[in-house]
Amino acid sequence: MTHSKFVWGASTASIQIEGGADSRGLSNWDVFCETQGRVHAGHDARIAADHINHVEQDVAILREMGLKAYRFSVSWPRIMPEGLGQVSEEGLAFYDRLIDSLLSNGIEPYLTIFHWDLPYALHLKGGWLNPDISNYISDYTKILVEHFSDRVRHWITLNEPQCFINLSYRMEAHAPGYRVSDRELALAAHNALLSHGKMVQVIKSYAKLTPTITYTQAMPMSSIPYTNTENDIEAARNRQFSITSDFAGTVSVFADPIYLGAYPTEYLNRYESILPNFGHDDFKIISSPIDFLGVNIYMGDYVTAGPNGEAVVVPPQPGHAKTAYNWQVRPECMYWANRFCFERYNKPIIITENGMSGNDWVHLDGKVHDYDRIDYINRHLLELNRAMRDGVDIRGYFHWSLLDNFEWAQGYHERFGLVHVDFENGNRTMKDSAYHFAEIAKTNGNCIGADFSI
Ligand code: NOJ
Repeated sequence: MTHSKFVWGASTASIQIEGGADSRGLSNWDVFCETQGRVHAGHDARIAADHINHVEQDVAILREMGLKAYRFSVSWPRIMPEGLGQVSEEGLAFYDRLIDSLLSNGIEPYLTIFHWDLPYALHLKGGWLNPDISNYISDYTKILVEHFSDRVRHWITLNEPQCFINLSYRMEAHAPGYRVSDRELALAAHNALLSHGKMVQVIKSYAKLTPTITYTQAMPMSSIPYTNTENDIEAARNRQFSITSDFAGTVSVFADPIYLGAYPTEYLNRYESILPNFGHDDFKIISSPIDFLGVNIYMGDYVTAGPNGEAVVVPPQPGHAKTAYNWQVRPECMYWANRFCFERYNKPIIITENGMSGNDWVHLDGKVHDYDRIDYINRHLLELNRAMRDGVDIRGYFHWSLLDNFEWAQGYHERFGLVHVDFENGNRTMKDSAYHFAEIAKTNGNCIGADFSI
């Protein structure tokens, strides 16, 4: 299959870059930041990368890089300060400005509707534990679609449900920092899936330009066969989609209902006694057809087959390659996670995020020489290209992130940007990796010995 137009882009998310906290409603993350000990060094997202005052400059950087696509998210509390009811004209106008500026620079907006910043008022109503959330988010989606779909074609419903459900409601790591029962966790997960399905239906019903719809998932337990033997490949594949006691942190609980129309049997059997009562049409709604499987992928584990074929994780070698965040550098994850997902779900894939945090600073010569990121990008893209050569249908790659930003519970401790941001004054400096990524996009990968035009 030939798809001449591989999409090259960069990603961000609203609360991670925007700032301008006074011009929007309170979000669950604002309150989480106020809670002692939750976010690194007590950082908050009130100013972040001050994108709200740098929109034109940030779009100019995208243009300078020659990127034809930009993935950003809309802040629900900026559009609806209370989560329901009243709509902020100022909020809509901000995204009008961004979208119009992107389009006039030849850059396609990829709009994520929900990337974790929930209006605090809805958190007080139970957040993702409240079954009404799927109606609230549908109302919010309708406002976005009615207002922006004369210009926006590409819609992403939810970003990484594994994180805003599991990290948030079980692991105590993200807002609101809860540890709920498994019963409530399963309910929250189901509410997220139903939300996605209803959002898809709203997009399809109200979009003015024919939409493409993507659902973006994290790739927890991304598994790389340690050797190329069938046994290791099978062990890795099984682990990738297995249901663990950490069920809300799995791929299959959040993907099978969408692409296969049902929860995995293993999940149903194991958790039967605590699962919510599903509505009659729930799975029909959840599996409303969409266009792309969005993959956010950063790392993976080497896996080998144990004596009974079970997956055994091979521990990292001492001194293994790692990013500033201490994440293992495992470029083969780009090959295997995508191959496994494509085999199981048979959907074209867009890489909606991939990247690394580095110890980046502005050097004496005024530049940011982030060679680690350049190497990371090269290695991951070569593996991605290998997956394409082996038949995996991949349509685009969005680097995380355009800008250094507010990395959730890590605050400003992690720098993921292609562009360095000085958080004291908002100054932007394109890192060496930004120029390099621009060259990759321009040559469709040829400059690193790849070919993304296949
Ligand atoms: C996942 C999330 O979507 C994004 O918000 C986060 O900053 C990156 N990955 C890096 O952790």
